[in-house]
Amino acid sequence: MKFDLQRARQDTPGCENVLHFNNAGASLMPLPVLKATIAHLQLEAQIGGYEAAERSHDAVEHVYDAAATLIGCSRDEIAIIENATRAWDMAFYSIPFRPGDRILTAVAEYASNYIAFLQIARKTGATIEVIPNDEHGQISVAALRNAIDERVKLIAITHVPTNGGLVNPVAQVGKVAREAGVLYLVDACQSVGQMPIDVNVIGCDMLSATGRKFLRGPRGTGFLYVRRSVLERLEPPFLDLHAADWVTRDHYEMLPDARRFENWETNYAGKIGLGVAIDYALQWGLDTQWRCIKTLAYNLRARLSTLPGVIVRDRGVTQCGIVTFSVDGKDPEEIKRRLADQHINVSVSILSSTRLDMEERGLNSLVRASVHYYNSEEEVERFCAALASII
Ligand SMILES: Cc1ncc(COP(=O)(O)O)c(C=O)c1O
Repeated sequence: MKFDLQRARQDTPGCENVLHFNNAGASLMPLPVLKATIAHLQLEAQIGGYEAAERSHDAVEHVYDAAATLIGCSRDEIAIIENATRAWDMAFYSIPFRPGDRILTAVAEYASNYIAFLQIARKTGATIEVIPNDEHGQISVAALRNAIDERVKLIAITHVPTNGGLVNPVAQVGKVAREAGVLYLVDACQSVGQMPIDVNVIGCDMLSATGRKFLRGPRGTGFLYVRRSVLERLEPPFLDLHAADWVTRDHYEMLPDARRFENWETNYAGKIGLGVAIDYALQWGLDTQWRCIKTLAYNLRARLSTLPGVIVRDRGVTQCGIVTFSVDGKDPEEIKRRLADQHINVSVSILSSTRLDMEERGLNSLVRASVHYYNSEEEVERFCAALASII
């Protein structure tokens, strides 16, 4: 069936103002998300925050069902958390590391995750080992398999890195993790909403996601998936009166489900908006979105490659909607500014966000143009013409 781009753009008021190729930063919200989020804020102002939460109970609770449908788990395996970093942290810092435990990760790991590895390694005596890439620039599954022994406590990798089109082979990694009986944590911040995600296909125990990027939800929203069978083994680093019950003077009992990773105060309008954003994504279909995104990104890369001095930097067998490039003799920040003058949004990926990968490739910073299904071929043309005029 032909994708209804016109409807997608009509639903996206921001398309009238900007050419938005910064979906890996934050996507333009569609109208249903905007309306639902604003409506709840208005209700809070009209009748009170607690009272509004009670009245909107079903809409708030719906986000758990929506997220579970999106990634193929059950609602009690979902915690709604304010962003992907905290979601990932809540899982990672729950793991009881001991001296000599090995953490295996990949070259394109995100800075915040790697900083957490460093902190835990320093505090506990666990070690961090970076599995090299294969010839395509994605994690080498063979090298990972060779690295497995009984001291490996965790495999933690990023599905789609912040700085490029790479899609790491998370399901193949999951197979290695399953065979070895090792905990497996996936940072799916840039992949959820971009492509179909099924935690059982991936074979992960924990997965973190954010609302504002390819899911097109409100800022300050995200979620964590924790497989039921590992939940009991994980004690979150922080507990409060929502995550646990204070049952007697000296004892507490953690919630039996993934909500033990949440905390009490939360953004109710954001939760409702995230639920609507996920419904909206499901209504288009993740297969359809993924097909549109890949086609647009492919065409963008092809067009960029024809521009003098432009080098497209994306790696991997499958490449997603994040297109990164450098331009000979030009500072990416300057390109971003000059494009912004023409109401064109891109972002800049800097070395310290994915230090291992950028150092390995000798890169300092890149222009990042990330497309979504509501972007058009006409925008790809306009973008390349605008770029050509400033380089
Ligand atoms: C791969 C990856 N992981 C994690 C994050 C952090 O997500 P959040 O800002 O929602 O915490 C980002 C954000 O850019 C990212 O690209």
